[in-house]
Amino acid sequence: MNSVAAHDRAAESLLAFWAEAGVDAMLLDEPVDRVAEGRIAPPPAPTPITAPRRPAFGAVAATVDVAAPLAEARRAAAAAQDVEALAVAIAAFEGCGLRFEGAASRSVFSRGRADAPLMVIGEGPGADEDAQGEPFVGRAGKLLDKMLAGAAIADRVFITNTVFWRPPGNRTPTPAEQLICAPFVERAIQLVAPRMLLLLGGAAAKFMLKRDEGILSLRGRWLEWKSEDGELEIPALPTLHPAFLLRQPAAKKRAWGDLLTLVERLDRPDRPA
Ligand code: URA
Repeated sequence: MNSVAAHDRAAESLLAFWAEAGVDAMLLDEPVDRVAEGRIAPPPAPTPITAPRRPAFGAVAATVDVAAPLAEARRAAAAAQDVEALAVAIAAFEGCGLRFEGAASRSVFSRGRADAPLMVIGEGPGADEDAQGEPFVGRAGKLLDKMLAGAAIADRVFITNTVFWRPPGNRTPTPAEQLICAPFVERAIQLVAPRMLLLLGGAAAKFMLKRDEGILSLRGRWLEWKSEDGELEIPALPTLHPAFLLRQPAAKKRAWGDLLTLVERLDRPDRPA
């Protein structure tokens, strides 16, 4: 037996003896600062966990160069004199990076009535929308349609999104992507002239209303959407996104309540001035 093995055996038998005798910790009379001795490395500093925050509104233009595509979007949107012309302008627009990232094929603009009293605005197209070229035609869209039908307003809506190409992997569109598409959304609002907007989910609500609160705080509150020049103001009601409702069916009750609030106002006659 070599001397190391003999040493280990002796140590093992001594430990066994102490354990038998009820010794379960080995302490010296005085504490020893092992870190100061340099024998034990100090524990690594905890890695800060930082949530990938979306920039606050207003910070967008400063961090991403959107000036040229935004100017082009404004020009193209302003030239469109009706919803069909706007669809053609969006399909031809090359200023939004999403067009070249996630979208398999084409732009996805709208469905519904071009003179609808209610405009529904979602976040952005998903895989089904990308494949079919229309917004809200997948599972979330089917739920949206059921809710609109249940509220008897399925034939009184114009449906669109804040961006017109599918974000890769269905990620949330960035504020810069939404900003670049915004002139087309605003032109759609001018052309359709709805009485009110229903904003689906946090990404749409926060962008359209230029607010930083989460959707759980925004939903169910009447707020004002304002055009860029401040000339046009339309009441807007944020609510939960149908994709969220598919994941959290218990939240459907709140979304349904929001929809009833909206219908009540949609059918209320304008007060005389
Ligand atoms: N989710 C959206 O926000 N929009 C769609 O068109 C489809 C799913």
